[in-house]
Amino acid sequence: MSRLLVKDVRIVDADRELVGDILIGESTIQAVGAGLSVPPGVPVLLGEGRMALPAFVDLHAHFRDPGFPEKEDLLSGARAAAHGGFTCVSLMPNTDPACDSPEVARYILEEARRQGLVEVYPVGAITRGLKGEELADMEGLAPYVWAFSDDGHGVDDHELMLAACRKAAALGRVVYPHPEFSGVSDPELSQELMVARDLWLCRRTGCRLHLAHLSTPGGLELVALAKGQGLPITCEVTPHHLTLSKEEACYTVNPPLPDRRAQKALVQGLREGIVDVIATDHAPHTPEDKARGAPGISGIELAFPILFTRLVKPGLIPLSRLSRGLSLEPARILGLNKGLIKEGLDGDIVLVEDEPFTADEDFFLSKSSNTPLLGAELRGRVWATVHKGEVIYLAGKVKGRDFDDHRQVI
Ligand code: DOR
Repeated sequence: MSRLLVKDVRIVDADRELVGDILIGESTIQAVGAGLSVPPGVPVLLGEGRMALPAFVDLHAHFRDPGFPEKEDLLSGARAAAHGGFTCVSLMPNTDPACDSPEVARYILEEARRQGLVEVYPVGAITRGLKGEELADMEGLAPYVWAFSDDGHGVDDHELMLAACRKAAALGRVVYPHPEFSGVSDPELSQELMVARDLWLCRRTGCRLHLAHLSTPGGLELVALAKGQGLPITCEVTPHHLTLSKEEACYTVNPPLPDRRAQKALVQGLREGIVDVIATDHAPHTPEDKARGAPGISGIELAFPILFTRLVKPGLIPLSRLSRGLSLEPARILGLNKGLIKEGLDGDIVLVEDEPFTADEDFFLSKSSNTPLLGAELRGRVWATVHKGEVIYLAGKVKGRDFDDHRQVI
């Protein structure tokens, strides 16, 4: 049984580029090629000059649920994700209560399943209440989480981090540090010192390590050295660190925006494959909290447009490389059957338009629009997001509230 045909699109993934059609079955891609015939009764999305990429997978988002529904909740976050072209999101544990117990992880998973919009993969806390004092219930959390992180805070205590790495290795889960020592005033050094320590702990314990939001050339240099030694490590950079410099935008985010020199090094790291993943660090905040200095950018909806506009259009990064960082590598890290437009893989695709648009207040489906890109003219707007053959976002409308069945809107 076929579920959807996408016709006459420019298909781009990490491995290839062609013009053709994509036929999706009950859940997986059935065929990719030129001139596929339209099976009777199967809805068709017409390419009409659009590009089709594998849907994006975000390893790093904050949906603030439980605890801060005025900023975001699991439903508004999922709607924003679908709007941004993401079908899978991994959620950070700095909620209230923190995701440091099986109960909170189960709440997130059950709520996401009930909504049935995007796939959700919780990250468990390393320490209880993210206080950096004692380990969270890592054994209890392990069945529900793929990784452990105290995102928002680095774990300063070396012995505690060593114990966390040993435990994560025994449980077969990834350690996902927020690399920043609290007692070091130079932000670059603060990151580099913690990257160095955590790489060493990885070497000592054999745990898998995924480093959050690297923003310094020195951090990437250390990652390159460790990869050269064959350590089981990956790292990510955010769209804002890749495209905005502190000379250009004055905006509070953690880690701070890089200067132009550092930003160039991050782009080069992505081009050369030292950077594995582009992760949004979607961090919604109310205007009041931003005014009080809360760090973060509401980034999941503009991730692709800003990367496309500032890196692909000027020829700094090929679209295929972007696709690797936004889809293939994060899917591989999560162990998903996704990330390429290929027969047998999940039918998760995104259709994007190479037309200019303005990212004004009305653009956002997130509850928060805290971004220095408000009002910017960009290209690469997402037109449709498809999850396992089901259209979950199309031309401004999201499945659930705006339509029940994609057949009604095609
Ligand atoms: O800017 C940030 N905001 N960086 C983080 O690491 C945490 C995040 C948040 O939760 O607001």
